[in-house]
Amino acid sequence: MQWHILGAGAIGCLWAHCLIKAKQDVRIILRNEAHLHTYKATSGLHYTDMDARKSHSFPQAELPNDAAPITRLFITTKAFSTQDAIDSIRHRLVDNAHIVLLQNGMGQHEQVCNQLPHCHVWGASSTDGAYLTSPFHVTRAGKGETIIGLLSQYNRLSDFPLLLPEKMDDLTVHLTQNISLHLWRKLAINAAINPLTALLDCRNGALSSVPAYRQKVSIICKEIEAIAESLHQPLFEDSLEKHVFSVAELTANNFSSMHQDVTHKRKTEIDYINGFIQAQSALKGLDTPFNKQLITSIQAKLHS
Ligand code: PAF
Repeated sequence: MQWHILGAGAIGCLWAHCLIKAKQDVRIILRNEAHLHTYKATSGLHYTDMDARKSHSFPQAELPNDAAPITRLFITTKAFSTQDAIDSIRHRLVDNAHIVLLQNGMGQHEQVCNQLPHCHVWGASSTDGAYLTSPFHVTRAGKGETIIGLLSQYNRLSDFPLLLPEKMDDLTVHLTQNISLHLWRKLAINAAINPLTALLDCRNGALSSVPAYRQKVSIICKEIEAIAESLHQPLFEDSLEKHVFSVAELTANNFSSMHQDVTHKRKTEIDYINGFIQAQSALKGLDTPFNKQLITSIQAKLHS
């Protein structure tokens, strides 16, 4: 089975490597000649697992303007690059192509479904931890799971399992009929952990262990729960803050992705995480002052 992967960040490299190991035909789409050159000079992908064991794979790499058709595509870019990613390969998508959006944030899913009505668009939410130590060198930081579900109203859920290999080393994948619940859960957790860790300049664990930080988590969680409730969007059976503390403790030593972006002065996903929450609250006429403050402070921090 042939898979294209667009977005050679940690999750893209992790999936490319694991699909290759599962004997799939994987093609990485790299954004330009310079990136392709680095990939070739690096001799492909280098993976370090949680026991520090190293392995290597060398999926074929392509540029977006290549002519070969795309039938199955993982988009693993940052949420804010989704539109550019789609635009760069749109001419290659066959009718009925399967596109899996494996990204943080929300807002981009609807955009892709609307633009590509002839494709099957899937959403995916992952709790896998991975980071790049340098381009194409991915290290596994935590073993989680990936939940995949159909977003577009186009296909039967039962079609997807046939597409993914039955066994993939190092990846656990489940299908769901209700991907929107999982995307919301991930969004809600990210909306608390990511901006707070970036602004407080701390590892995830501090949000649970420092009493003053716990209070901030409680405030943002209450705002998110109010928005979700107004949209009749279930989150967790118990409180959101309980889940945020649990993820913060499980990933205690990690710096969140937004912390890393802010530290390296890179564009963050704030518009697709807390910005999405803000847009929903505006639609409902609700006030979410702390969420708004987090967005403004992240933007200010990047421009300071
Ligand atoms: O974005 C991240 O860093 C992760 O999704 C999470 C859950 C906050 C853990 O670091």
